[in-house]
Amino acid sequence: MKLTFQQTILLALGGLHQANCHCKSHQSSIDTYQDETDSAQDGYPVVVVDGVISKRWEYTRPTTSFAPNYDYSGPESTCGFNATLPLFPIKTVQVKAGSTVGFGAMYMSAKNGNIDEHTDFTDFDPSFYMYHDGPATAYLSKSPGELNEYAGDGDWFKIAVVGAKDGLTWDYAAAKAVNIMNFTIPASTPPGKYLMRAEHLNIATYYKSTQMFINCAHIEVTGSGEGVPGPTTKFPGAFTASDPGIWLPSALGRPTQPMDELKNWQGAGPKVWMG
Ligand SMILES: *[C@@H]1O[C@H](CO)[C@@H](O)[C@H](O)[C@H]1NC(C)=O
Ligand SMILES: *[C@@H]1O[C@H](CO)[C@@H](O)[C@H](O)[C@H]1NC(C)=O
Repeated sequence: MKLTFQQTILLALGGLHQANCHCKSHQSSIDTYQDETDSAQDGYPVVVVDGVISKRWEYTRPTTSFAPNYDYSGPESTCGFNATLPLFPIKTVQVKAGSTVGFGAMYMSAKNGNIDEHTDFTDFDPSFYMYHDGPATAYLSKSPGELNEYAGDGDWFKIAVVGAKDGLTWDYAAAKAVNIMNFTIPASTPPGKYLMRAEHLNIATYYKSTQMFINCAHIEVTGSGEGVPGPTTKFPGAFTASDPGIWLPSALGRPTQPMDELKNWQGAGPKVWMG
């Protein structure tokens, strides 16, 4: 993202101010500069499969809030706020192994604390773009039974990472007008019912300042995949606050030339299973 002179000065001031504090509201990033001005956030309550955009919370486990989550290893790091189990039963969407699942971004409706996100059923608005710049990852966990009864406490494997192809700016960025995060289900994924966890990070150079936005969808993978997904991990537990996939060293905050660390960003947790 190109910065205006004024923004550059603001960022520099933010950085100085920040030097001795772990405060969440004064990070030296353009994203947080936006947060400070209108404290907006977003979430991913719709999925896109075969070009069809779902209803809000049709296949996505409802979360009560689109506020950023800073508890990288807490119980709500699995599927978001109050989403360890569905607040109400949702449907399961069928997805062919090898095809793509999109997670559509929607603006927070509870901006003033009046509406719980899970009680809002407005349709996806394609004119809203993801609010933050940052990397994204997706994970799958096979459900031993009905998805509506699965707390996500089984094994998880990572299927996708979206970083910064050019090593400079995140591929998923507000300035790039991204409104749907897309992740491909590896072609050899065994058929079955899975909880699919999509995560977007507003990654920060200050300890415990990275903002995590998470939603989980109920999907049924079809096909005849015979892969053996791995390595696996657990949620909560896959992340810690000091993980380099969560907390970026300051030198990487605003690179002026391409950096391999951004280009090759793999996130916290295990390596991606390529299928
Ligand atoms: C994700 O896929 C949808 C089509 O399903 C497309 O409209 C959208 O632009 C894609 N997102 C990105 C970031 O490429
Ligand atoms: C989780 O649900 C409880 C009970 O309804 C509510 O008080 C709390 O605010 C919710 N948490 C968040 C972060 O939305």
